[in-house]
Amino acid sequence: MTSPTRTTARIGDPLNRVDGVAKVTGQARYAAEHPVEGLLYGWVVSSGITKGRIVRIHDEGARALPEVVEVMTHTNRPQLPPFDHSYTDAVSVPGSPFRALYDEKALFNGQPIAVVIAGTLETARYAASLIDVEYESESHNTDFAVALTSQFVPNDKRSTFEPPQSRGDAHAAYDAAPLKVAADFHVPAYYHNPMEMHASTVVWEGNGRITVYDKTQGPQNVQAYLAAVFGFSPEHVRVKNPYVGGAFGSGLRPQYQVYLATLAAKMLERSVRVVLTRQQMFSHVHRPETVQTVALATDTSGRLQAIINDAATSTSRFEDYMETVCDWGLMNYACENASAKYTIARVDTYTSGDMRAPGAATGMTLFELAVDEMAYAASVDPLQFRLINYSDKNAMDGTPFTSKALREACAQGAEKFGWSRRTPAPRSMRDGRELVGWGVATGIWDALFEKTSAHAKLLPNGDLEVATAASDIGTGTYTVMAQVAADTLGLPIEKVTATLGDSALPKSTVEGGSKLAASAGAAVQHVCRGVAEKLLVAADQLEGQPLGGARMEDVTFAQGRIALKSDATRSISFGDAMSAAGLDTIEVEDSPAWHSGGSSQTRKSRNTHNAIFAEVKVDEELCVVRVTRIVIAVAAGRIINPKTARSQILGGVVMGIGMALHEETATDHRLGRVMNHNFAEYHIPAHADIQDIEVIFVDEPDPEVTPLGVKGVGEIGIVGTAAAVVNAIYHATGKRVHSLPVTIDKLLV
Ligand code: MOS
Repeated sequence: MTSPTRTTARIGDPLNRVDGVAKVTGQARYAAEHPVEGLLYGWVVSSGITKGRIVRIHDEGARALPEVVEVMTHTNRPQLPPFDHSYTDAVSVPGSPFRALYDEKALFNGQPIAVVIAGTLETARYAASLIDVEYESESHNTDFAVALTSQFVPNDKRSTFEPPQSRGDAHAAYDAAPLKVAADFHVPAYYHNPMEMHASTVVWEGNGRITVYDKTQGPQNVQAYLAAVFGFSPEHVRVKNPYVGGAFGSGLRPQYQVYLATLAAKMLERSVRVVLTRQQMFSHVHRPETVQTVALATDTSGRLQAIINDAATSTSRFEDYMETVCDWGLMNYACENASAKYTIARVDTYTSGDMRAPGAATGMTLFELAVDEMAYAASVDPLQFRLINYSDKNAMDGTPFTSKALREACAQGAEKFGWSRRTPAPRSMRDGRELVGWGVATGIWDALFEKTSAHAKLLPNGDLEVATAASDIGTGTYTVMAQVAADTLGLPIEKVTATLGDSALPKSTVEGGSKLAASAGAAVQHVCRGVAEKLLVAADQLEGQPLGGARMEDVTFAQGRIALKSDATRSISFGDAMSAAGLDTIEVEDSPAWHSGGSSQTRKSRNTHNAIFAEVKVDEELCVVRVTRIVIAVAAGRIINPKTARSQILGGVVMGIGMALHEETATDHRLGRVMNHNFAEYHIPAHADIQDIEVIFVDEPDPEVTPLGVKGVGEIGIVGTAAAVVNAIYHATGKRVHSLPVTIDKLLV
């Protein structure tokens, strides 16, 4: 399939990725792939205990190998700053950020406690196997259920967050209502395992300068962090991440491999690369384990009378990671009485953190399981139940939405799926020896915007470069930037080069929260408009003024020409306009003026929504579940590129299917260690697990939400998806499972 080419690329065109060829031909280099002269390889040695202290590291055997340059530990590392503030970053959480090799303490199993640095990767790896460590263990706890029995004591006064906003008297209304359901729902911790493992190549440039190729979602965040921790002046640290092999939140904060590689480079004044192994990814950032208690009550017609939504999530001993878990259900459903409580509990692991739709992927999904149970208890069709209790405004705080086309999403999704042909009773639909189940759920996520700067440079031949220090973690940022630029100046996509992934470029927010298409897109449009204005001024200097002093609203920009709207025969090429003004280039660097907050009177909620319909087929004897069909209808404002946007939704849905059926961390709590730390035993959907997925983008014009009317689609695809699947499993089998994933053993009982 080829893209439409040679014509102006428009916002809304399903263009191929502009970085697609570089990726499939291997020209796109990831953090560990940049060639560096004289590079050293660091291999991380991981703690074998969960809690306690390192008494001695026996590294004589490792050091005896000829190619081993150094074994870096807490006893010989370069000096590091003593206070927490040096280690915080743009998105760090309250508490005390982890400092690898800082002292003799072990805080979690798999913690990096030494780095073997050698001339080859193989030598470093072999030498690491020769290292013997003496420990003094202390008792630990990695069991979240046990942790929940202890009172939470914050590490930091910033951790005293506001509880979710309650309304009415939920407990009294629950007690008084005729129909009710209540249950505890659970999701395990999910460990981040993007295709590209955490990796950093630190190039020692001399004169106190380093260039760092890092797997990160924010090169400027890493730049500031490395400067603060290692005492570089920020302009001497350049961080590049032109290509990132997936991140999903794991690269929002600077991760410990970049710290270790930089520490080693500083110690040796050499270039060093550190790549974590797949096993070591399981001693790293993860979505917190979550327990959610949902109690719902309705009147006899299925109208909600009470919502109680309490949740707890896991964090480490040293930091207080918190997320928005309870709010989504309270926002989405009309109900006069609603309350929520949220707390966190400590386990001896690395700090949990953001993973695709943090808080909503778990909190809203588990809520939607309870909604399905309530609909059945009230004898109302589950889709109808959601429409009966639909809220046009944010039901939690009463603010209007800038837009909410969830009703349309429900209607279009149901139509495509064929929902009206569903028979409501569990076990009532069948395909041969398989039970068939149809389930529905809805989802909600934030539509965020953050002020971002961009640079645009136009050449007389119509070649246009746009740049910002954004990241493309596989989402399509390059393509979106190029597409918005091409649309603004009326150019074919081939004329535009988008550059990102470099801390030296104009300031950008981290790639997270589904906000970059809206934020970087608006910045690119803004500077390209600036270029257009300068072009028009230049055109005026042409002899005879062929455009007659026209203003911006009187002209179009297309095919490298400025033309009068009223008379397209009167046009000037960009090159002629520029030479008339004596310009070799036109350059603009700026950020758009935009205030998304508003005063409290004008405050609005900004959210994306979805409706997901799932079909499962369940082998009646073996209880094997197959997800045979998903239809997801997404209301996410304006879609810049339906092709890359669809890919984002597909990825979210696949991850959601993994939550429903596969993904689970198994920890041996006696050891405090993740036991299934590999892809053979930590299951994610394989190709054979994924069948039909249909994505619908509902028309949702919203000029208010962000400058381009874009809401972002990186996360909304996962929210609620697992609930649609698990609700379908109930419809097929008549079994309610409250703890994800729904593995065969849970259905056999
Ligand atoms: Mo995403 S969890 O905001 O990278």
